[in-house]
Amino acid sequence: MATAILGLQWGDEGKGKITHVLAKEADMVVRFNGGANAGHTVIDRGVKFGTHLIPAGAFFPGTVSVLAGGMVIDLAVLREELDQISAHVKTPPQIVIAENAHLTLPYHRVVEELEGAAKHFGTTRRGIAPTYRDRAAKVGVRAGDLLRPSHLEAQVERRLDQLRGLWPKSEEIGGMNAGDLRRELLELAEPFLEGICDASEAIERALADGMEVLFEGAQGALLDVDHGTYPYVTSSSTTFAGLGNSIGIPSPDVSRRIGVMKAYTTRVGEGPFPTEMADDLAESIRTIGGEFGVTTGRPRRCGWLDLVAMRHAIRINGANEIALTKLDVLDGVEEIRVCRAYVLDGDEIARFPLSADVLDACEPVYETLPGWEGGMEGARLEDLPQEAIEYVRWIEAELGVPVTIVSYGPKPEETIHRAL
Ligand code: IMP
Repeated sequence: MATAILGLQWGDEGKGKITHVLAKEADMVVRFNGGANAGHTVIDRGVKFGTHLIPAGAFFPGTVSVLAGGMVIDLAVLREELDQISAHVKTPPQIVIAENAHLTLPYHRVVEELEGAAKHFGTTRRGIAPTYRDRAAKVGVRAGDLLRPSHLEAQVERRLDQLRGLWPKSEEIGGMNAGDLRRELLELAEPFLEGICDASEAIERALADGMEVLFEGAQGALLDVDHGTYPYVTSSSTTFAGLGNSIGIPSPDVSRRIGVMKAYTTRVGEGPFPTEMADDLAESIRTIGGEFGVTTGRPRRCGWLDLVAMRHAIRINGANEIALTKLDVLDGVEEIRVCRAYVLDGDEIARFPLSADVLDACEPVYETLPGWEGGMEGARLEDLPQEAIEYVRWIEAELGVPVTIVSYGPKPEETIHRAL
């Protein structure tokens, strides 16, 4: 059986924890989009990890971890994660890398800085857009090139040549050399070389053999390059539609499509955010919820749950289950607000606008629900405070999708699994 974990908001929904909880039972975990911009917080047997690239399967013996074709891979980051996890687990992780996944090279980060994208869009400074742009412009370097070193060097040389012409004053680019980059890349890639292959075939075989395959998404639907709040988005397809393309399998049979959303909303970086909270409450949610970026350490902007955005995210993902996370962070909040519609130019609308400037002009229409007093424990929804149970039931009724997982803390045991 196959399961997909998909972010429904602007990333940081807690996908890392949910994937780690479910990866225990999986034979294969496939990360299908993005690169080192992602930050997944995982607590494995009491030790906290902040991973960016390595799929959650790496924590479990016998589980294959696949980095699929739709990803962009920074080998320096991946190698660091492999070394950290290898020192923690007994069995070395089994890593498969799609030969058609692109590599983020040191010059991608430099170009991102030169273009000022971090300032303008609030990017993660991980060279993501320049890598995906090189892919689209057919001047990228792919994981499969690592198996043909002279071809790899020629590709890098060709691109470096172009970049020197585009940025003649950049000392960093001027100082880069294809031969050095080739040596650096091959050294970093050494433990992964054997696992570079046609990952699409490997995934197809696993699905055909009835293995438990878990697809791990990164970022969230509202950051999707096509269906998110463009241009304040990332550069990959973060939704279920992007999954099939990334793994090279049309309409993969994924019966559980779990959309992950927080009990409230956060966003890092620039861009419209209709339900953003007033400063004092945002500050307290940020502190209690530890809402600081795993990749950049930036404070996350905090806001109320937005059902207009969630309906859009559920629809474009075909999500048939919801994992609701960080419910405990709302402990003690007297009244909980949830946005059920927007007002745009005086009219109430239920549709999520696809352009950032239009979304920016939307005012939220709120419903207010009673909060609850602190303290959450137990394995069943019924163990939670009554108002929290009602909040969960209200969300599923409004969205028409069952909440099958409720997470009320970072530890794996702070999770409620509900049968459909
Ligand atoms: P980029 O992906 O670094 O190009 O950044 C583009 C936008 O996506 C910025 O607003 C980032 O903050 C946001 N972003 C990228 N990855 C993540 C993530 O994993 N969580 C939250 N926001 C992200």
